[in-house]
Amino acid sequence: MPQPQVFITRRLPTDLDVLQQVATVEVWIERQPPPYKVLLEKIRTIDGLLCLLTDRIDSQLIAAATSLKVISQMAVGYDNIDIPAATARGIPVGHTPGILTDATADFTWALLMAAARRVVEADRFTRAGRWLTWEPDLLLGPNITGATLGIVGFGRIGQAIARRAKGFEMRILYASKHQWDLELEKALGVEFVPFDRLLSESDFVTIHTPLSKDTYHLFSDRQFELMKPSAILINTARGGVIDPDALYRALSQGQIAGAALDVTEPEPILMDSPLLTLDNLIMTPHIASASRQTREKMANMAIENLIAGLRGAPLPYCVNNI
Ligand code: DGY
Repeated sequence: MPQPQVFITRRLPTDLDVLQQVATVEVWIERQPPPYKVLLEKIRTIDGLLCLLTDRIDSQLIAAATSLKVISQMAVGYDNIDIPAATARGIPVGHTPGILTDATADFTWALLMAAARRVVEADRFTRAGRWLTWEPDLLLGPNITGATLGIVGFGRIGQAIARRAKGFEMRILYASKHQWDLELEKALGVEFVPFDRLLSESDFVTIHTPLSKDTYHLFSDRQFELMKPSAILINTARGGVIDPDALYRALSQGQIAGAALDVTEPEPILMDSPLLTLDNLIMTPHIASASRQTREKMANMAIENLIAGLRGAPLPYCVNNI
């Protein structure tokens, strides 16, 4: 019997031996994602697709598949995939939850601390030869210890952020679709508050909600107006949660003090984006989960999902429960 055909949309940070024993594997080896028309051509004949968040897997693409048994995404987020379209065709979609929680929470803290204590600006300042002497008011930033942290979205990553915040003796507020049980709240030392109150009381606001039609541009002019002028916003979730034009206005007009973004709309950020002219913004290229160990485990989990799907078995980490 011929082996199933698999297409992987980029080189993965793990070896493919296990997969190659059960499938014929084609890997897209370019640095840029395969163009949509390449995906459209591949999807017609393959049995399994291993994709990334940079691949648009829409209903047209899914409709073109004739033998596709599984879509396995190497990411926890899956807003690039039309899940209802896959479900309607009976195609299970896998993702990689849990494994990247700590790496993402660690990196969120790296951004929070870098933005608060102006680490990137200080590095630029030093390299530019501007360090003349010790100055009492040089590159001042706010306290982190004892400040109020607002966590928007309180799933695995939001909760991991709260665990770390306890070490900084912070007051921790969270806003989410529902209130979690009191035991969890007590263990993490967090308080459930309405979104607007979180915005107006927090010194740091960090976003950990998936992108959906409900969260698209959740942060726009009105939300920035509610925030403290000293507040710092961090986003390691999805770029579309923030309206970039409103963020530019807020940062350039001093409605908020700073921001650190690992994700943007669009991605990559356009080099002529006015956001890149601001000193009070830190930008990184969607690397919050990028610890070596985490990325290797994400790739292995995606392969595990893929193999299960090729065999017609339930995926260990399935989005649409097929
Ligand atoms: C995800 O997994 O959704 C992240 O954005 C990339 O690690």
